[in-house]
Amino acid sequence: MVKIAPSILSADFANLADDVIRVQEAGADLLHIDVMDGHFVPNITFGPVVIRSIKDRVDLPFDVHLMIEEPEKYISEFADAGADLLTVHAETQPHLQRTLQAIRDHGMKAGVSLNPSTPLSFIDWVLHDLDLVLIMTVNPGFGGQSFIPTMIPKIEELAGLLEEEGLEEVVDIEVDGGVTPETAPLVVDAGADILVAGSFVFKGPDGVDGNMAALRKVVEETLADEPEASLEDIM
Ligand code: DX5
Ligand code: ZN
Repeated sequence: MVKIAPSILSADFANLADDVIRVQEAGADLLHIDVMDGHFVPNITFGPVVIRSIKDRVDLPFDVHLMIEEPEKYISEFADAGADLLTVHAETQPHLQRTLQAIRDHGMKAGVSLNPSTPLSFIDWVLHDLDLVLIMTVNPGFGGQSFIPTMIPKIEELAGLLEEEGLEEVVDIEVDGGVTPETAPLVVDAGADILVAGSFVFKGPDGVDGNMAALRKVVEETLADEPEASLEDIM
């Protein structure tokens, strides 16, 4: 199954609670929450206080994507605020293994995100310490940017690596940036397990319900069309 994680970066912050309820009702699997500090990325969003304020409004797992320097300083704050999955950027981390362990010690799943220019080799030695790899398909910082197609072979390579290590059922591949019904089939075919979509879900042409349905439809069609998958299924 491929999951869809709407990013609240494109929600209406004046009515945030309504928007998160709306995406839950539209069939979201997780809520993707983008935290930015104006240092690691050239944009500032919000922190644990806002996350805590919406935690009891929905039942969705909170998938918190930290685009901040020194994220290791804030692990307990995000755990207390309600994060279920906490993702840090590899580029911020001299001691990545320690940070991932600390995230797990706080009862959360641990994720690592890689910017488009960051090689997969950054995570070679921590594959057993993480639950999710977030491949950025835009440079982080803003919603509404164009998908970078050269990230497709990177997703494929990661999927192959996880398979080699016997971790394909254990570690999820999440893809974030420029995901729309046009790009979703490419990332699903490449091996993505979770699709983050912000501007398409909240600002696409058919309202949140219609946009979520459109995305779900192309994902299901892509999975059904995959000849290898159907062959394996009947063998
Ligand atoms: C970008 C964020 C994304 C963003 C994606 O730095 O990490 O989660 O919300 O937005 P879209 O789907 O509009 O590219
Ligand atoms: Zn994100």
